[in-house]
Amino acid sequence: TPPELLRNFCIIAHIDHGKSTLADRMLQLTGVVEARAMREQYLDRMDIERERGITIKSQAVRMPWALADESGAPQPYALNMIDTPGHVDFTYEVSRSLAACEGAVLLVDAAQGIEAQTLANLYLAMENDLAIIPVLNKIDLPAAQPERYAEEIAGLVGGDPADVLKVSGKTGEGVPALLDRIVRDVPAPTGEADAPARAMIFDSVYDTYRGVVTYVRVVDGNLSPRERIVMMSTRATHELLEIGVIAPEATPTKGLGVGEVGYLITGVKDVRQSKVGDTVTNANKPAAESLGGYHEPKPMVFSGLYPIDGSDYPVLRDALDKLKLNDAALVYEPETSVALGFGFRVGFLGLLHLEIVRERLEREFDLALISTAPNVVYEVTMEDGAVLTVTNPSEFPGGKIREVREPVVKATILAPSDYIGAVMELCQTRRGELLGMDYLSPERVEMRYTLPLAEIVFDFFDQLKSKTKGYASLDYEPAGEQASALVKVDILLQGEQVDAFSAIVHKDKAYAYGVMMAGKLRELIPRQQFEVPIQAAVGSRVIARETIRAIRKDVLAKCYGGDISRKRKLLEKQKEGKKRMKTIGRVDVPQEAFIAALSSE
Ligand code: GTP
Repeated sequence: TPPELLRNFCIIAHIDHGKSTLADRMLQLTGVVEARAMREQYLDRMDIERERGITIKSQAVRMPWALADESGAPQPYALNMIDTPGHVDFTYEVSRSLAACEGAVLLVDAAQGIEAQTLANLYLAMENDLAIIPVLNKIDLPAAQPERYAEEIAGLVGGDPADVLKVSGKTGEGVPALLDRIVRDVPAPTGEADAPARAMIFDSVYDTYRGVVTYVRVVDGNLSPRERIVMMSTRATHELLEIGVIAPEATPTKGLGVGEVGYLITGVKDVRQSKVGDTVTNANKPAAESLGGYHEPKPMVFSGLYPIDGSDYPVLRDALDKLKLNDAALVYEPETSVALGFGFRVGFLGLLHLEIVRERLEREFDLALISTAPNVVYEVTMEDGAVLTVTNPSEFPGGKIREVREPVVKATILAPSDYIGAVMELCQTRRGELLGMDYLSPERVEMRYTLPLAEIVFDFFDQLKSKTKGYASLDYEPAGEQASALVKVDILLQGEQVDAFSAIVHKDKAYAYGVMMAGKLRELIPRQQFEVPIQAAVGSRVIARETIRAIRKDVLAKCYGGDISRKRKLLEKQKEGKKRMKTIGRVDVPQEAFIAALSSE
């Protein structure tokens, strides 16, 4: 297809504002998926995605749409819809998906209005110079207030509130008009047809049968089957076994030219060899420069993962090896803990990523796991100038420290103006710094903060929701590091340090952490033949102390979410764990005490 007839767009929406439903309706209206063959939510392929209703992996689908030109003759356009992941942890993937498009449909629930996440992605789209098509969805809902939110959106993106399209993904109303509008408002791609090929990878997915399927957007030149291609970040070359478009199944073509979006297959088995953001070029006529914007995925949050049943360790190792094939951002290395035995220290893009990985390990590999409290990555500079990267609190160095740096994020919070005070108070207790505040409308305000990532990974979102009756929304992006007054708090049982309970916290919060953890353990550890002191210490200074009392208290193991059989299995394993005691110094500690103490509730 010549570039003049191509339109590449994505849909920016908050979770639940109806992106998948609208996408499905478009597939149906353009005849790509027949109504009767239509599975609900065609685009969300993975089970977990479907259950959680979130989109993890972006995909691209090609749809034909005819629209008359000035002379009245219908022109056969091809629309490529590129799906963007919808969560803060995947900002980089979102940015690459946006970079593959010329336009974005800004989809807003007509009963909810715009949310923080939508706003963040909208700004990203604007930075990428995409044409924005504002759309209000779910106008069939009785609670819809299209007029009110049309004003809000027009205020944000400019233009007349009357130009905000009103659609219902559910009934299909307004969707053909939206497709017309995409053809009219989204610019056709431009690129140099005769230049060496340059295509940007915006997603890569591991498929059991086909190996890695790589999604690309061709910028210049063209790629054809059977030729050799080069991944510009690594200089690795591969043979292009197959290239094609998704419509909605993979359909091989004779190649992809300027502006086209599709997939390619080289037979590699690991997504790390096909990196999101990388540039693909021809081996025999390579481009001089890559497209730019590429960077390696960087784990932001670390947690220890341990099998509850120690004999499951090899299963966990194999499971992580398998998941890695499909998840370029997942990193891990073996770790041993005095308290928990053999396991892995695993790095994640963020909390949702952590939860997804953990859930997949438990569900797909039938593992019961303990995960230690998540922590961020610290950079410690010693007095002698040595710099250490700390991904595990128990590795935080003793000795003379000059400076500790921690990652910070730029957070955007949207809330009804009644809750400004509550939000500010929360951000203040989390060491936040207000960057700015804007009213979207008299009732709704956008607040921007710099916050330490460590303060966000720990129940920030829950707190924000509960302090605003569920009305606030949050988004954040990495914003570098800052020096902070951080210390390590150790927990000691009878003078013996318990590694899994060490935490790095701001010095003003060390005491609270120590008291909380010592108190929790006093409840959880059964009495021994002798008195057991529990201490919290910063270096050699004890900041809190508890003593274990006489009567053995029964511990009720906590169970987190999930289906019943898994829960039962977990309970059984925990029962076994209760029998299994870890001996720390002279103290016998049931494994379930660790589980309960480490669970974040
Ligand atoms: P994520 O995949 O989680 O980002 O959600 P999504 O934005 O794709 O939303 P999805 O399409 O799954 O829709 C969310 C909910 O809104 C579902 O219960 C849909 O049935 C409902 N919904 C979507 N579009 C419409 C609409 O036009 N009208 C009404 N009444 N409900 C809709």
